[in-house]
This record gives sequence, C-alpha cells and structure tokens, in this order.
Amino acid sequence: MNSFVIVQDIFRLTCYISCMSNQFDKPAHAADDWTIDQRWSDYTADEHKVWDTLYERLMKVLPGRAAPEFLNGLTALKLDRGGIPNFEEMSDELEALTGWRVVAVPGLVPDDVFFDHLANCRFPAGNFIRKPDQLDYIQEPDVFHDVFGHVPMLTDPVFANYMKAYGEGGLRSLRHASLKNLAALYWYTVEFGLIQTDQGLRIYGAGIVSSPAESVFSLEDESPNRIGFELERLMRTDYRIDDFQQSYFVIDSYDQLFRSTVDTDFAPLYAQMHGRFDHKPEDVLPSDTLLHQGTQAYANRGGRFAA
Ligand SMILES: [Fe+2]
Repeated sequence: MNSFVIVQDIFRLTCYISCMSNQFDKPAHAADDWTIDQRWSDYTADEHKVWDTLYERLMKVLPGRAAPEFLNGLTALKLDRGGIPNFEEMSDELEALTGWRVVAVPGLVPDDVFFDHLANCRFPAGNFIRKPDQLDYIQEPDVFHDVFGHVPMLTDPVFANYMKAYGEGGLRSLRHASLKNLAALYWYTVEFGLIQTDQGLRIYGAGIVSSPAESVFSLEDESPNRIGFELERLMRTDYRIDDFQQSYFVIDSYDQLFRSTVDTDFAPLYAQMHGRFDHKPEDVLPSDTLLHQGTQAYANRGGRFAA
C-alpha cells in the first residue's frame, strides 16, 4: 500500500540539466536569447487552479521540511497569493532582493543559452503549466516546477551568487567534454540538495520541493544515502532522472556551496573526469562523510516501477 501511494504521488521532472548537450530548434516567436512573452493574461482559470492545487499539496508537507530560506522566499515573492505568478511583477520583487529576474522560455533551451541566462542573473522558466491529469508527472519542467521550485531560493543572496557562478562556470566548461559532470553538480545541489541546519536536515533542492512524496522520502526514508557534500565526489556520481534519488548530498551552508564552486579550478578536474562517472547513484565510499547509510530498499524493490 505504501509503495502504491508513493507511485501515485510521485512527481518527477526531466529538468533542463538532465538534457544537457541536447540541441533544439529555436521557435520562430522566441528572441535570440530564446525568451518569449509570458502572456500572463492568457492563462485560464483552470490553469491558475492547477497552480493552486499543486501549491496547496506542497504546503501540507514543506513546513518543517523545506529550508527556511525557501519558505521565506515564497513569502517574500508573494507566491502564496494564488494563481500563476506574473513574471514581471515577481521579477521586480526578486530584483530588489538579489538582482535576479525570471524570464519566460518555450521549454528546454540549449546549454549555452541556459548558462548565459544564469551568468547574467536571469532564471529561464517555462511559461506553460501541466494539465490537471498531469499533476504527478510531466516530461518537461513547467512554470510550477521552475517558479515554485527554483525561484524562492534565488531570494537568498549567497545561493543566488552560487547560481550565477554556476552559469559562468558552465560557459567556461563548454570547451571541455565534461558537461555531464557539471550537470551532476546542478542535479545534486540545485535540484536535489539537502542542507544541515540547527533544526535538522532541510530541503533546498527544487526537484524535491516540487514533490510531496520526495520531500518526505529524501529526509525520512531509510532507503537513500545522505552524504556530506564534497564537490569532486559529487561530480563523479551518476544520478537517477526517472525516480527518487538513491543518494542525497548535504551541505553545511550555502556559502560552502558557493565557495567550493568559485575556489575550484575546474579545468584539471574536467581533464581527469572527461565526462565519465566513477560512482553509481547508490555507492558509499570509505572517504564519504556519511550522515545515513541507506538500505536502498526502495530502489531494490523496483522503485516507482515496483508492482
Ligand atoms: Fe529544475
């Protein structure tokens, strides 16, 4: 019964980063930087209702589990007032806090475009929203995942600086064959990161906070590993894009994340890794700072595909 609930409740996304190295044809209505008008006034009442339904589901599980910076960000940006946010109005609030803005894009964008937006403090967000029968699963990140999941953390100045540094690093990395390793960094931090706080472990990753089921699983289930953040170890680790993670990496602070990224010379790292993953998603290494050694029971019984 329990696994049935998880499967019904699961919400997985193929985010920008899992599609890195893909190239797409730019739609005719998109600008050179792939941005489009959000066309906020075109959203229907039913589409706003989908946002509200998803928001209400998440707010039943996130207090006490999401990082304070995430929850404060929801309030600061008034994302609790109901309906799909207007990007222009939200960006005015966000820009006053950390200098970032949210721009609408038609969906997935090429790597260089994605990195360039981040490096210039613009977060690209899909402007469409899933259908009412897709509440638990969609193929591409929609406005709910991109805005509810990602934008609140951009109100935190240090995390916002990390995102900018990531975009700048991404632009530099394009001449190396290591996008996969750089994608792992984004995956295990921006999408699926946990942070240690005085009140205990909390979630800051957008992929987790977008999912009621994974919000509980990532913090409370015996199955996954919870491992202290270490940049190179993490960048050498493969990840799941179709199910809950088998390992989560835990930072001590956003400053640790930012400093480890800007203080690392990535060129020799890329030369060594060369796009390879040395560690499987479930691996535990002798060198790991292990907060919890997972049983991997969920993955071993087949994960979301279990009968
Ligand atoms: Fe995402």
